Amino acid sequence: MTDPMTEREGQPHDALAKAAATAPATPYAQPEPAARDHVPMEKPVFELRDVSVAYGGTPAVKGIDLDVEANRITALIGPSGCGKSTVLRCLNRMNDLVADATVAGRVLYHGQDIYASHVDPVEVRKLVGMVFQKPNPFPKSIYDNIAFGPRVLGMKGSMDEIVERALRRAALWDEVKDRLKQSAYGMSGGQQQRLCIARALATDPDVILMDEPCSALDPISTARIEDLLLELRRSYAIVIVTHNMQQAARVSDRTAFFTVELDEGERHRTGRIVEFDATEKIFQNPADPRTEAYVTGKVG
Ligand SMILES: Nc1ncnc2c1ncn2[C@@H]1O[C@H](COP(=O)(O)OP(=O)(O)OP(=O)(O)O)[C@@H](O)[C@H]1O
Ligand SMILES: [Mg+2]
Repeated sequence: MTDPMTEREGQPHDALAKAAATAPATPYAQPEPAARDHVPMEKPVFELRDVSVAYGGTPAVKGIDLDVEANRITALIGPSGCGKSTVLRCLNRMNDLVADATVAGRVLYHGQDIYASHVDPVEVRKLVGMVFQKPNPFPKSIYDNIAFGPRVLGMKGSMDEIVERALRRAALWDEVKDRLKQSAYGMSGGQQQRLCIARALATDPDVILMDEPCSALDPISTARIEDLLLELRRSYAIVIVTHNMQQAARVSDRTAFFTVELDEGERHRTGRIVEFDATEKIFQNPADPRTEAYVTGKVG
């Protein structure tokens, strides 16, 4: 096996795209959706090993070990401030955009360290898309929202087809096909969030990160997004942060429960993963009493 540490200085960044392109999680490299649920698990898409993140030198999370698998929904749950968003942002180098954030440990994507010096964060974000809590369409038409990423990246092929494919994958095409040139701001909140999902899909990622994607939505829009997640799982690895325990239990396959612990000397509160396991196990038979207290609503 290749030692990822030795790759740190040696890999050109397009090696990431090649790794993703040959990996089983890639939408086009996979068997038809119906058969995909039965594909045996390959090497994880992401392997986090002893990852820690500090803001301005103050640790926010420590000792994070997490695997993210293709065709699985991985949920990150835990009380506010335990570092769920911080860990999620490590997966597409969004922490680069946070002043004073430093990331240590290994974040391996298809076996390659995305924090290696040769890796271009823009390339990472193309392959690892992100959807935020509040729908954040650009002040542009529906069409131009989707076309934005592919245009910036100079993606080849018909833009009309790229846009239609992304909207179809996000289960939005039928609702918007007659108003593609209208402003995205004229859509409902739930539609705007599906547009943001379509925008993330347009660059052909193989991972979608979602930070509380339904917390600004009504129950019907939430149910539509949850249905969509289960559909998208056939083609992508999905990581979702949620405060909604029912949502984590309904949609996710694996769940990581985070908590905040006081450090040695009790000077800092640091986020850690208490338990990471099959969602059923976390919710029905957790190994740690802190997990049980949280998922049963006794604390948190
Ligand atoms: N940009 C930042 N600068 C400084 N500290 C930050 C920054 N972002 C997060 N933190 C700190 O890092 C810790 C983890 O925050 P994070 O936002 O990752 O938690 P979270 O689990 O996503 O919380 P929530 O459920 O409220 O969204 C907190 O102590 C927070 O104050
Ligand atoms: Mg958060």
